[in-house]
Amino acid sequence: MTAGTSDIEKAAGVLRAGGLVAFPTETVYGLGANAEDSAAVTRVFRAKGRPPTHPLIVHIGGAEHLADWVEEVPATARLLAEHFWPGPLTLVLRRGRRVPLETTGGLETVAVRVPDHPVALALLSAFGGGVAAPSANRFGSVSPTTAQHVRAELGDAVDFVLDGGPCEVGVESTIVDATGDTASVLRPGGVTREDLEAVLGRRLEVHSTSRVRVPGQHPSHYAPSARVVLVEPEKVVVEAELAQELGHQVGVLLPPSFADAAVKAHAVVSVPDSMAAYARGLYGFLRELDQRGCDLIVASLPVEQGLGLAIANRLRRAAGPRPS
Ligand code: TXA
Ligand code: MG
Repeated sequence: MTAGTSDIEKAAGVLRAGGLVAFPTETVYGLGANAEDSAAVTRVFRAKGRPPTHPLIVHIGGAEHLADWVEEVPATARLLAEHFWPGPLTLVLRRGRRVPLETTGGLETVAVRVPDHPVALALLSAFGGGVAAPSANRFGSVSPTTAQHVRAELGDAVDFVLDGGPCEVGVESTIVDATGDTASVLRPGGVTREDLEAVLGRRLEVHSTSRVRVPGQHPSHYAPSARVVLVEPEKVVVEAELAQELGHQVGVLLPPSFADAAVKAHAVVSVPDSMAAYARGLYGFLRELDQRGCDLIVASLPVEQGLGLAIANRLRRAAGPRPS
């Protein structure tokens, strides 16, 4: 059931009272708190089990409000905001005074975006302020793309869940460091590198492995309970069957070119051919394989173009070592 007007009013009231609201965006569901309320923001970190040094994204209702949240809006940031907002793009800029350090994890920069989802925009409009929100999952695990995922994962830790149906994009926003003259990508996501480069008229650097600039990007993110093993596409079937023979409960993300193969494994998901459909389904597939009792997931990386870059980034993170 998609949230109605009374749900939006109720959710805005929860935010004003310092509570936590999970809400849909076009990328994934967010776990929101009043971005200017340090105590509420601290509750977000606690609910997620997230270290307080991992900064949150501030969601705002429109590009016209950007200047209220940052120290300055450089020309590149303005251009990108005008082109891609509302949409799956997050801009990192110098922190405005009203943003508490709790929200930015102690950084002098702040991440801001305008989500492209009617329920999120209605919530931001009813609330009137900025909503600090990470993805609404426990730290390190798979991001939620439905309200059911949020409830299953966070339960009572969230005061109110707005249901807006399944997320359209399915992977998180692209994060661009726009503090200087030369913007760079800190996390690939829903807006493709190619689309950013077309608007900027130049090549963009992708620093997606940097741990310093984006602490939330260290390995073990976006991970299901099952261990994820990445192999070449043509080895997926043979590796999966070998692991199954060795006693694993194997889940397979079967590449499109092998969609007709009969695989002797515990559970098989045929990956869609379209990158948009793959991105939309990715986190749901990982959750499904967990639910079906798989302890090992065999997958391959898509071609790293367009949305394939973000999908490959998430699969690599999911296959990385677990938090120590
Ligand atoms: O699509 C999305 O971006 C979703 C929806 C809910 O908007 N949100 C999301 O939030 O993915 P989260 O917290 O799961 O990831 C936010 C990322 C983290 O990797 C964090 O380190 C980075 O943004 N980040 C936030 N503020 C930053 C800053 N000032 N400088 C660099 N990275 C920052
Ligand atoms: Mg996240």
